[in-house]
Amino acid sequence: MDDARFPQLRSPAADEERLPPPASFVEQANVTDESIRREFEQNWPACWKRAATLLDWSTPYDRVLDTDDGYTWFDGGSLNAAYNCVDRHLEAGRKNQAAIKWEGKLGETRTYTYQDLSREVNALAAALRDLGVEADDVVTVYMPMIPELPITMLACARIGAVHSVVFAGFSGDALATRMENSNSEYLLTCDGYYRRGTAYDLKSKADNACLAVPQSVEQVVVDRLGDDRSLGDDYHDYGDLVADHEGADVDPVARDADDDLFLIYTSGTTGQPKAVRHTTGGYLSHVAWTSHAVLDLEPDDTHWCSADVGWITGHSYIVYGPLALGATTVMYEGTPDHPERDRLWEIVERNAVDVFYTAPTAIRAFMKWGSEHPDSHDLSSLRLLGTVGEPIDETAWRWYYEHIGDEECPIVDTWWQTETGGVLLSTLPGVDPMRPGAAGPALPGVEADVVDATGKSVDPGESGSLVVTRPWPGMAASLCEGADPGADSPVTHGTGGWTYRTGDSARVDRDGYIHLLGREGDVINVAGHRLGTTELESAIVGVDGVAEAAVVGGDHDLKGTEVYAYVSPRKNVSATEPLRERVREAVADAIGPFATPDTVVFTPDLPKTRSGKVMRRYLERITNGEELSDTSALRNPEIVGELESIVEDIS
Ligand code: WTA
Repeated sequence: MDDARFPQLRSPAADEERLPPPASFVEQANVTDESIRREFEQNWPACWKRAATLLDWSTPYDRVLDTDDGYTWFDGGSLNAAYNCVDRHLEAGRKNQAAIKWEGKLGETRTYTYQDLSREVNALAAALRDLGVEADDVVTVYMPMIPELPITMLACARIGAVHSVVFAGFSGDALATRMENSNSEYLLTCDGYYRRGTAYDLKSKADNACLAVPQSVEQVVVDRLGDDRSLGDDYHDYGDLVADHEGADVDPVARDADDDLFLIYTSGTTGQPKAVRHTTGGYLSHVAWTSHAVLDLEPDDTHWCSADVGWITGHSYIVYGPLALGATTVMYEGTPDHPERDRLWEIVERNAVDVFYTAPTAIRAFMKWGSEHPDSHDLSSLRLLGTVGEPIDETAWRWYYEHIGDEECPIVDTWWQTETGGVLLSTLPGVDPMRPGAAGPALPGVEADVVDATGKSVDPGESGSLVVTRPWPGMAASLCEGADPGADSPVTHGTGGWTYRTGDSARVDRDGYIHLLGREGDVINVAGHRLGTTELESAIVGVDGVAEAAVVGGDHDLKGTEVYAYVSPRKNVSATEPLRERVREAVADAIGPFATPDTVVFTPDLPKTRSGKVMRRYLERITNGEELSDTSALRNPEIVGELESIVEDIS
């Protein structure tokens, strides 16, 4: 393994510490039986039955896992996701329980009971049908954090349409790329949204996207800003559609277990965002099971995952997991520090949140703002804390444990990806001891390994590539393919068996706990958002006057990683402030403002191998002030010293 690729190993002493889960938690936990791992080990496909029993099936499945041609989970079974997330809870006598509690800007709140949710989902489902939406059609949803977003997802699921939610922070161009790629002829969006008290326009971005795609698009618009603008004949008003279909009762469409539930775009190693498809039976079983076993959710719990529904975390653990179990899910609009830095703790207290799930980048910000903010609230309703999205360092882990959990809540550090659908690595909070800084072992039924470049397992303590070596129900449809997956597939069926390469580097400790070290390749992870370096670079080289660009991640105290763009201007073009601005704008236009490079470094040349390949790893080391001992592989070693001094001047 190339050492330059991996951060320094931490001292082995850090591996020794294990904190037992608090006894008060274990007493009430959903999963407490230590034999669960052994049980899954003995017959791993059959054990996933447990996950499927958390759902109601329209047709029972024949086999848990069919391997005749690729992998089909719960083959022969059919079910409807909206029925599982809404109707069956009404039938269970819980129609007046809150399903969604929404916290909007400046203290505005809305609560939807399961009955309310059922009414609006049915009305919208009927309206979508009237617009012509049929099973398997792709409906794009471009909305901020408002209740209409999960309602639209469930309305699509009810009629068997496939939703494609695009994060509202993406630009119109990024929306158009995704709509064109999925040939989506329906777009549900809204006029705008509020962030830090300011209204942002969304509709004109949606309009631009619709103009840019070849297909014609039916647009439905939610009036969020409340300015009652007339939409004109080209648009459907969401509120009017729902009112016109009030009282509708739409039969949930039974979907085959491997029919698509949704698709979501993510950054891969190519310049184009890639569509990840998730199935109805496998995905829903996986997120319901992990919500039960890892997040320990029960129907009378209030769960708050502070992610955005526009990313996979929100799909799985704001919408589908908690609602499948009939719990109350909280969603909030805005940011954690507006109007005050105690906003989240105020929401936890007022809603008596039981389980709180957030990202390390948020925890680092809370730490910086100071413990007086959580300390001024009663957080005693909390029972379990979770993190996801990036590695959590021990300091942030301890702060979270002490100041938010009062040392009484276990922390689950959950590792997973858009492609995995739900959590794959985590401690079971009522069973396993916690180890600050390590995600934990693979969940029961999941098998993971850390391997070297030849695919051989590395020794404990050594770093390598994280691979998953058995299929799991939440796996994306593209990973389910048969023996001959495409050349760029991360799945291989070699002599060592089935292997999914995750693209993360990791090391495993003596107890089998996996410590994540970061992304391996051409993807960087900024504040928990995945960005493809090629996507960013192609936006930058599109700027007039730019010859070449390379993007890398630099260490950042709060965001974990920040975006550094190394840009070399064309001959006779000078490196000026306006050029720098154009570079930043190009990225904001192509992807979205959240992806804008924090630092743009102009350089006459990029470090390249003799064959002309840009050495991003060298740039990464330069960015982070690390020494480069050997530059002999470079065609232009002199550029290194020059760049080192430019970067030193900036920081
Ligand atoms: C990273 C988000 C360390 C990892 C659910 C992965 C993590 C990428 C963790 C997926 C964790 C996620 N510890 N790293 N607990 N969880 N990651 O697709 O690099 O947006 O490959 O899915 O986030 O990001 P994605």
